[in-house]
Amino acid sequence: MKRVAILSSGSGSNAQALIEHFSTCDEIQVVFVGSNRPSAGVLERAEKAGINNSVFSKSDLNNGTLIQNLDVLSVDWVLLAGFLLKIPEEFCNRYKGCLLNIHPSLLPNYGGKGMFGMNIHQAVFEAQEKESGMTIHFVNEAYDDGAIVFQGRVDVSDAKSAEEVAAKVLKLEHKYYPKISAELITLAE
Ligand code: GRF
Repeated sequence: MKRVAILSSGSGSNAQALIEHFSTCDEIQVVFVGSNRPSAGVLERAEKAGINNSVFSKSDLNNGTLIQNLDVLSVDWVLLAGFLLKIPEEFCNRYKGCLLNIHPSLLPNYGGKGMFGMNIHQAVFEAQEKESGMTIHFVNEAYDDGAIVFQGRVDVSDAKSAEEVAAKVLKLEHKYYPKISAELITLAE
């Protein structure tokens, strides 16, 4: 059984998609959902799914407290899903090869500091990009810089707003993050 933690800062629709898909995978169990924001919708989603969840602070992330808590839960993989804090080196090293993120653009385009959520889709829309998409990648200590695992593309040439771009990309995220991450987790020794 591979034990998975999901970290999210927001509404958690990606976390929801992961939780639902993993509930159909015999070898994967979501044992923790964490957020750095007490008001994050993801915590309520975890509660409804009966999954252990809690809020942690930025200092917990940076001073090793979160790692200790995940170790107590014997977490094997950590999946970021709309998580907005930078992951410190110690955390990246502890979960090397078992730490994934989803980014709502075709990295390396529209990645890096400050490129998150609607900022991305607004920039893509204003640049009149013909296509956008999402990227699943391993996480290292630089923003959106780790090895790319998968990219999904979508035609946005007919998008009338940044919100329309966002909606198209989010659909791809929900479709692919659960499947691709489940394959990686299941295949890992
Ligand atoms: C998603 O677009 C994700 O790619 C990005 O932040 C957004 C989070 O949405 N990292 P949700 O909280 O999963 O609904």
